[in-house]
Amino acid sequence: MAEFYITTAIDYVNGSPHIGHAYEKVLTDVIARHRRLLGDSVYFLTGTDEHGQKVQQTARRKGVSPQQFADEVSAEFRAMLPRLGISNDDFIRTTEDRHKVVVRELLQRLFDKGDIYKGEYRGFYSTRSEQFLQEKDRLPDGSWPEIHGEVTEIIEPNYFFRLRSYQGWLVDFLSKNEDFVFPRYRQKQVLEFLKDPLNDLCISRPRERLEWGIPLPFDEGYVTYVWFDALVNYYSAVADKPGIWPAAWHVIGKDILLPPHAVYWPIMLHAAGIALPKGVLAHGWWLTKGEKMSKSAGNAFNPLDLVDEFGADALRYFLIREMNVGQDGDFSRELFLVRYNSDLANDLGNLANRVLNMTNRFAAASVPAPGADSEAEAELKSLWETTRADYLQLFEQFQFHTGLERLFAFVRSINGYIEKRAPWKLGKSAEPADHALLATTLATLAEALRLASVALRPVMPGATAKIDAVLGYVPSGTWSDELAWGQRLSGSKVATALVLFPRPLAAAKAP
Ligand code: ME8
Ligand code: MG
Repeated sequence: MAEFYITTAIDYVNGSPHIGHAYEKVLTDVIARHRRLLGDSVYFLTGTDEHGQKVQQTARRKGVSPQQFADEVSAEFRAMLPRLGISNDDFIRTTEDRHKVVVRELLQRLFDKGDIYKGEYRGFYSTRSEQFLQEKDRLPDGSWPEIHGEVTEIIEPNYFFRLRSYQGWLVDFLSKNEDFVFPRYRQKQVLEFLKDPLNDLCISRPRERLEWGIPLPFDEGYVTYVWFDALVNYYSAVADKPGIWPAAWHVIGKDILLPPHAVYWPIMLHAAGIALPKGVLAHGWWLTKGEKMSKSAGNAFNPLDLVDEFGADALRYFLIREMNVGQDGDFSRELFLVRYNSDLANDLGNLANRVLNMTNRFAAASVPAPGADSEAEAELKSLWETTRADYLQLFEQFQFHTGLERLFAFVRSINGYIEKRAPWKLGKSAEPADHALLATTLATLAEALRLASVALRPVMPGATAKIDAVLGYVPSGTWSDELAWGQRLSGSKVATALVLFPRPLAAAKAP
């Protein structure tokens, strides 16, 4: 079995999780579940990023130690995962010893090689972004962009990592590995960025300015720059587990592609003689009213409120159906309700209920064996064949939103097939031919619903398990076998009813 190692970004513990964080976990989870269904052995890592100035400051303001503060917020992020149905294998915290040891080893290795040297730093520092800014970051009027918060000039001796000496190597690497960054247009942005000479990266912070970090192994008067520390999590989490590294994909948001994931990280690994990940998948942002949802902007939706109200599967479906991976998407309760009502309650939920209801009424709750296909059955099967082929390919290409669009077109066609066959009329007929057609119809319906459920499994693990159960279907084999149209349900006993997506009282809810 191929090892497929996938990671999310590790979240800063300076505020509660919002839809953006939930999305990244769900997206990564869909990929992880998809790969498992294809037969890969998957290792899925997520976690929290806990060092740095912001955490130190917030903890001080609250009058607690940084460790205590990090413990509380990290626990909140961790608790969100099962609520969202996330199937991660591990959760790493950068304050854990297993991580700190590896960061210090890596620093020592790079220091011994001469890739880290001591120099003088002079620059403008943003506490909010945890980074030094450059002259080119200034706005035309000389001020700094608001996202950086307060910016102060600092001059101090520090340690530097020789990024610049690896610039040529990185450009060469990216030219040879055109698919390193997904989507491809973002890889072009990386190459564009690399047209300017890189500055060496300041990787230390004097302890008198920042206590809350990993001390440098070769100079305990300094702690490690939070990005240099955080990126290593992907490696430190599996350093003692043979056969997992390198990662297949690091799933991150587009705001942290450049420079950390597309420049610092590949160079850090290459300089240390560690294999590179296969790629970095950069997703876009969830926006509210056109602005990036964020902790600092105060426009964040709590994903768990939606889970409480509609269930994890509904939220997962919305996030994956609505977002074109790589681009931005709008989030609002109204948009959520539209998808919920039309796709989930009306199309899928309704279909499941009709299938159960009719199988109970006309076949004593047992899925009949089908007779010969007529045109309507042949049409539905042929639609399934193309849907299935496209769906598998679209999933392979991370085009989940289009995959789901196709799949729900198939679900609507199953509902259309019911209208066409009108089993309630066939059931009243005295003609033997109508009875045969009724059996074929019920068999076709159960099989089509089973296929839709199997296909939706990575996106809605909970709801599809319920559909499988009420159909009496026990999943077996790999995904591609399960997705073949067959007669797996003949003779299967179905349940009487299933309430999958209860209709919300939209009108009664205040906006
Ligand atoms: O950046 N829409 O942590 P973070 C979509 N600790 N994704 C969003 C988002 C939004 N509105 N807001 C944030 C960090 N994200 C670092 C990562 S990795 C070694 C260190 C995404 O808590 C964001 O792009 O600010 C990032 O991938 C993740 O949430 C964590 O963001
Ligand atoms: Mg952020």
